[in-house]
Amino acid sequence: QKTEMSKELGSVLTEKLRDLRIDGVPEDMKVPEEDRPVEAEFESIDLPLIDLSLMNSDRAGLVKKFREAASTWGIFRVTNHGVPSGLMKEVQEEGLKFFLQSEEAKLKLLTRGKLGAGKGSYYTGNNIEEKRHSLHWAESYVMWFGQWCALDPTIIDRVTSEWKTADDRFRTAMSEYLTGVRAAAKQLSQLASESLGLKTDFFSSPTVETGNIVIRWNYYPACPLPDDVLGAHSHTDPTLLTVLQQDKVGGLQVERDGRWYNVKPVEDTFTVNISDQFHIWSNGIFKSVLHRVLVNKEVPRLSIASILSLTGSQSLCPPSELIDENHPRVYKDMNAQEHSEVVIKSRSSGSDTKVFSG
Ligand code: SIN
Ligand code: FE2
Repeated sequence: QKTEMSKELGSVLTEKLRDLRIDGVPEDMKVPEEDRPVEAEFESIDLPLIDLSLMNSDRAGLVKKFREAASTWGIFRVTNHGVPSGLMKEVQEEGLKFFLQSEEAKLKLLTRGKLGAGKGSYYTGNNIEEKRHSLHWAESYVMWFGQWCALDPTIIDRVTSEWKTADDRFRTAMSEYLTGVRAAAKQLSQLASESLGLKTDFFSSPTVETGNIVIRWNYYPACPLPDDVLGAHSHTDPTLLTVLQQDKVGGLQVERDGRWYNVKPVEDTFTVNISDQFHIWSNGIFKSVLHRVLVNKEVPRLSIASILSLTGSQSLCPPSELIDENHPRVYKDMNAQEHSEVVIKSRSSGSDTKVFSG
């Protein structure tokens, strides 16, 4: 089973990478006409800003802002998050170094373990596990770190050493990066709890203790025919919360009330989005934002997504405080494992996974 999966992925990706070198777009990467972005120009928006330096000085204001952002856009920008600017740049450069390796070197790192549920890191062409769309114009490397509470230096060592361009400094950088992301995620999920009138650690404890952390590096090469492809089809993230570092290039779009907007990249900030698990866990109050990625003709783009999720038997059941006659349960009782089975099933059957979007 495992070997079969890798073999299939290997041949798909080898072909994709070969095709990327010629001046055209492979047929199975072409987005069907009806799915292509139609507007000639999109409005660029500055997302709501959550400034974590205000955690102590203006907590009430920040809590209000969080609730507003999470329930309308489902995505916001986070500043003063505790990951130093220099570290963000360093990690960005390491990412580029990785994707600019020879195809041969990258192909040696092709998927180990089962896609979407494995424990090992893997390199992959994007979206090859989903049958319903054309293939993404993207490459990714996925690092599985497992549960926050079990994350120790040996795990960071093992995961980073599978990334072949890594050296000792990279290991330290990743360890610092994870520490920063965890601290930011903790504060954000505290704001989330307080914004719904729950005790501070209601969301934050499960999120940054027993929850999982994956880092997904996405590379979108410049494309000779950018209008014919997508870096990522419109989707909501099936997980809990995504803390995204993006470079200056831009390409991420988000949907609100049926319209698509360009998300302006802003240096040194994280773009953080609410994902399906949080939508369910908040009884539908927080919106799991629909997003997609466009590519361009001139410059490649790199994004680094720290993806937080609940896992296994962790419950997605909304707290009783959020449920009454006027606010009935939106989703049936499920834990993270049951939820992920729904996601995997709908993906492999080719059906729409946007069932949980707000
Ligand atoms: C994604 O969330 O699917 C990718 C986000 C990005 O690269 O901007
Ligand atoms: Fe996403």
